[in-house]
Order: sequence, then structure tokens, then C-alpha cells
Amino acid sequence: MIRELIVLDNPNPYARRIEYYDNDVLIGYLDYSHIYDRIEIDNFFVNEDKRGKGIGKKLLSYLVVIAINNHVVNMTLEVRISNEIARNLYKSFGFREVALRKFYYGDEDGILMEKQVM
Ligand SMILES: CC(C)(COP(=O)(O)OP(=O)(O)OC[C@H]1O[C@@H](n2cnc3c(N)ncnc32)[C@H](O)[C@@H]1OP(=O)(O)O)[C@@H](O)C(=O)NCCC(=O)NCCS
Repeated sequence: MIRELIVLDNPNPYARRIEYYDNDVLIGYLDYSHIYDRIEIDNFFVNEDKRGKGIGKKLLSYLVVIAINNHVVNMTLEVRISNEIARNLYKSFGFREVALRKFYYGDEDGILMEKQVM
């Protein structure tokens, strides 16, 4: 089951969250900011023992539907350059790698990825 939340205790007024539950147990979530006509993915996580079962794809698909329904123009995110699993997953959803962010994570470069929705 997927739940949509507005994160009330977050100082970012644009913060939203999608949670994935399996038998009432939270096993994955996607934090994002919905800022007018754009969405930024802030955090995306599936419990290690539940990975590779399609839950990440379900969460991302859900977010794309939210984006379309809300006339969002583009979606962006930063990902560690070493995180090939996530980079491939985003590419399969139509995200393109648009910039290299040197030392974005302090110890590692980040890649800015973008998907045009409209
Ligand atoms: C990225 C993440 C959320 C994906 O969640 P998931 O539930 O495992 O994703 P899915 O099962 O839907 O798999 C989606 C794709 O990821 C890739 N993938 C998933 N697990 C993989 C693994 N163990 N090895 C290689 N590729 C893998 C596959 O390409 C898969 O697509 P396919 O089924 O067509 O082959 C999860 O790996 C995670 O929590 N990682 C740690 C946190 C993180 O890196 N977040 C992203 C930060 S930008």
C-alpha cells in the first residue's frame, strides 16, 4: 500500500513524502519537494532486504503520476556518481544526466539528473 503525506514537522514547506507499506510495515519511502511547477527528489530509500522486488519502481511511478496530475514541468535529483543502481533506475524512467556536481557529497561527485514531464 502506498501513502501520500505532507511532512508537517519539516521546515521546508514544499516537503512531501510517499511511503510504501507491506502488511502495515514501512519498507520504503520517497521524499520530495513539490515547488510550484517542479519536483526535486530529496531522498529515496527501500529497506535493504526488500530491494530488487520492484518497490522502487512503484514509488517512482507513483511520483510521476503525481507530477503529471499537477502539471509539473520537470523533475530533478542528485545522485552519487558511484550509485549505478539508482542512476540506471532513473534513466529507465526517462531522467537524463545533465550536469556533474563536483564534490557534491563532500567525498564524492554527484550527478544532476532531470526528467521533462510536460
Ligand atoms: C535505489 C533504490 C531505492 C531502488 O529500490 P528497489 O526497490 O531496489 O528498486 P526496484 O526493485 O524497483 O529495481 C529497479 C531497478 O533497479 C535496479 N536494481 C535494483 N536492485 C538491484 C541490484 N541489487 N543490482 C543491480 N540492479 C538493481 C534494476 O535495474 C531494477 O530494474 P529491473 O528490475 O528492470 O532490472 C534502492 O536500491 C535503495 O534504497 N538504495 C539505497 C538508497 C539509494 O541509493 N537511494 C537513491 C539515492 S539518489
